[in-house]
Amino acid sequence: MQVIHTVAELRARLKSEPSVVLVPTMGNLHAGHLALVEEARKHGSCIVASIFVNRLQFEPGGDFDRYPRTLAEDCAKLERAGCHVAFAPDEGELYPEPQEIVLAPPKLADQLCGEFRPGHFQGVATVVAKLFNIVAPHTAVFGRKDYQQLAVIRALVRQMNYAIAIVGVDTVREPDGLAMSSRNGYLSSEERTEAVRLNRNLRRIKDLAEGGARDFGALCAFAIKDLTDAGWRVDYVAVRNRSGLALPGPADHDLVVLGAAWLGRTRLIDNVEFRA
Ligand code: PAF
Repeated sequence: MQVIHTVAELRARLKSEPSVVLVPTMGNLHAGHLALVEEARKHGSCIVASIFVNRLQFEPGGDFDRYPRTLAEDCAKLERAGCHVAFAPDEGELYPEPQEIVLAPPKLADQLCGEFRPGHFQGVATVVAKLFNIVAPHTAVFGRKDYQQLAVIRALVRQMNYAIAIVGVDTVREPDGLAMSSRNGYLSSEERTEAVRLNRNLRRIKDLAEGGARDFGALCAFAIKDLTDAGWRVDYVAVRNRSGLALPGPADHDLVVLGAAWLGRTRLIDNVEFRA
């Protein structure tokens, strides 16, 4: 596997590659990221994983400075997973001048995480568009754990006419059900034990909805109370339709329950898809 730090070198390396698949990451890789690489290998012959902690998508006061940077370990993991190129630019390489041109995300980004992380999806859309332009893949692979992000990226591709197929990969979980995340490393051991409560609540909503419950407001309110009583600070727990993340109407049956909540200083997100 080659580790490349500059746009020019990357473009030269990929020039004669007929089938490039991109796996964008912010590094500190875990089994969830490696599942993206494994999926990417089914779609093309040259897998490029980008590793870049994107300042633009962190809200003021967010964890940009303390976000773990583990490039050597990440490259070893990517190589073992069968990745061909790790693209790890520094900030000056990706943002050589102030990034004045940014992409306004679609309306569906105003709610859920977008409501609590102002500017986040603008930063995501902007860096992902840059990576698409730099790498020019025919396919790009993203995790379904960042469900709203995936919806934003699908809209980006549609509305900006990128000829790129977007593949979403199921969330990889710890044995107790906690969704794998680079931010799980922030949790103390007591918080780590408690962390599964978010997923447990989302699964409970799924089970009750599959059993016929349709008052999603009440189901979510119960989950918010359970989390709050256990010491969490809840940003949201919400049921949406899967097609556009709108409030479900009577005709919507393909649904997803999404949640974001703070456990101490760590913000965790998760979602569970269901049909009801
Ligand atoms: O999901 C992530 O890790 C990031 O949001 C992404 C897509 C790599 C953009 O920085």
